[in-house]
Amino acid sequence: MSTSRSPGDLVLMTIDQLLIWSRRELASSDSASIDANTLLCFVTGKNTAFLYAHGEEFIRQFEAATFENLVNLRKKGHPIAYLTGSREFWSLDLTVNEDVLIPRHDTELIVETLLSVSESLGGTHLSRVLDLGTGSGAIALAAASELPNWEIVGVDISQAALRVAEVNQRKLALANVQFVQGCWYQPLKGTCYEQSKFDIIISNPPYIRKDDIHLDRGDVRFEPIMALVSDEEGYADLKKIIYGSAEFLSPNGWIILEHGFDQAKEVRRILLDSGFDSIQTHRDLGGNERVTKGRTSV
Ligand SMILES: C[S@@+](CC[C@H](N)C(=O)[O-])C[C@H]1O[C@@H](n2cnc3c(N)ncnc32)[C@H](O)[C@@H]1O
Repeated sequence: MSTSRSPGDLVLMTIDQLLIWSRRELASSDSASIDANTLLCFVTGKNTAFLYAHGEEFIRQFEAATFENLVNLRKKGHPIAYLTGSREFWSLDLTVNEDVLIPRHDTELIVETLLSVSESLGGTHLSRVLDLGTGSGAIALAAASELPNWEIVGVDISQAALRVAEVNQRKLALANVQFVQGCWYQPLKGTCYEQSKFDIIISNPPYIRKDDIHLDRGDVRFEPIMALVSDEEGYADLKKIIYGSAEFLSPNGWIILEHGFDQAKEVRRILLDSGFDSIQTHRDLGGNERVTKGRTSV
């Protein structure tokens, strides 16, 4: 990449030339063109329409240097969301970094399921949702934005992840959510929630097997391992969440769980053995069984 300067402290490369250069650098990726545009928009603070309309213009030298650095990191596989520090989820612009899982669009299926279940609940008491393994706060904050009269609690074992969740909460100014640090239900023991309980427990827990070959590919290589992998063929945390729910779920309360595309049958079996009824699995847009819900009768 050229580093020569023009009199106005601009690098002698136009927006068009930078895009051509970066697409060539990223050519081995399926998303080369989108990634190049996203990174240049991020660096310049402009949108794609501006880049296309002003292709002959130069950008500032420090922007060109930052862009070059980001393109090189992307070439090494670093996820776009970590490079730009943001990811959209359920129309919320979330801050993300290497301490949190990058929220997936597939996980919006949990929010959709939560909203359909919440409609059927309506009661006189203050309704509550517990989001276990909240990470960036994606699901909890989407729930808080859609259910402003509900109380939402997000739990995560990672203090670093909760710092990101709290940044997002402040940015989105959602007052009806709070975040608590600890292992699954443990930080709720001895609190008011042991008495008042939750109407709905939701979770996108770690559920990938330790030996899954996908852990060595794509964005996943850069994400926190504790957000991804679970013992017992990927079922250990799903089981802890299901077994522990008895203490914290209201009578007729619902549990809604994301799991791997090939784990639905076993999750249904565990829910049935644990006394849940009305068990149903929902498919994602790709037709895969990804979210299972069940209702407790006691
Ligand atoms: C798959 S990520 C989900 C993050 C977020 N809910 C989302 O959907 O984008 C799983 C989360 O569970 C958290 N986690 C892992 N083990 C945990 C535990 N024992 N107790 C609480 N949280 C845990 C991880 O730190 C991670 O943030």
